[in-house]
Amino acid sequence: MLAITETDTVRAALVAMTAALDDAGIANAATDARLLLQGVLGADAAALIRDPDRVTGAKAPLLLNAVARRVAREPVSRILGTRAFYGRDFNVTPDVLDPRADTETLIEVVLELVRGAGRQADPLTIADIGTGSGAIIVTLLAELPNARGIATDVSDAALAVARQNAERLGVLGRLTLINTRGLLGVSLSPDFVVSNPPYIPAGDIAGLDPDVVLYDPHLALDGGPDGLAIYREIACHISELESNTQAILEIGAGQADDVEAIFSAIGARPCQRRRDLGGHVRVVALEIQR
Ligand SMILES: C[S@@+](CC[C@H](N)C(=O)[O-])C[C@H]1O[C@@H](n2cnc3c(N)ncnc32)[C@H](O)[C@@H]1O
Repeated sequence: MLAITETDTVRAALVAMTAALDDAGIANAATDARLLLQGVLGADAAALIRDPDRVTGAKAPLLLNAVARRVAREPVSRILGTRAFYGRDFNVTPDVLDPRADTETLIEVVLELVRGAGRQADPLTIADIGTGSGAIIVTLLAELPNARGIATDVSDAALAVARQNAERLGVLGRLTLINTRGLLGVSLSPDFVVSNPPYIPAGDIAGLDPDVVLYDPHLALDGGPDGLAIYREIACHISELESNTQAILEIGAGQADDVEAIFSAIGARPCQRRRDLGGHVRVVALEIQR
């Protein structure tokens, strides 16, 4: 049983927290313990290294609570309410998907396409379907200071989180947030359509890791019977756009052929596949010529 008192040092707390998470079978116990310690104390890693003998003081009960929540499989980002994504901190709440490191692959592909075409200073329009916390569109607008964004989601609560993140990270003035399915009702023709839509086959959701199934919103996971329902919806909306666009889409493992086939059927040309660090094709890029 974990015990941390007000007179324990942060060094001792870290050892005890790591052991408690390890005993509970948490895979990255040492990393999670350090992140929880930093988050609860409001200190970065360097501050903890500089002063390992500082006492936990009034934060001791908060540390115990944080460990208990992690033992119950609540992700660290949800306990702390924040997640680092592409070098920036995003607020996360129970209403949004916890942004994944794999999704940074999509950011890389978009920025390479934009910069490779020498368009980084152009007034591009980028539409993000299923924006959730806004991690994708807010990052792209922060990286491309002349771009404008449209972010859609079917969840008002998620859109509120995206708005907050856009404001905190200084891009809200260039972002329009819309509650709609896909691109329905979006009047502008975007240069780029990006999306990390829900892509888990409905029947697979119950078998996902407890960190995911208990804490990510169902709406952010459920891709219909075969996991591809939202790609069909996006393809249908893109087929109605009036000018050229490029779609850069995150996909689930093994979905590349199916997603490319859905878009080929509307005349799109698959132009790139990109693997994530785990070796899965995580992103497909498609060109749509009008
Ligand atoms: C997998 S999450 C992605 C969130 C965020 N873009 C990210 O990458 O972290 C998918 C999001 O799509 C939203 N969504 C689900 N169905 C949708 C639809 N038909 N149209 C637009 N958004 C949808 C969900 O509410 C959820 O916020």
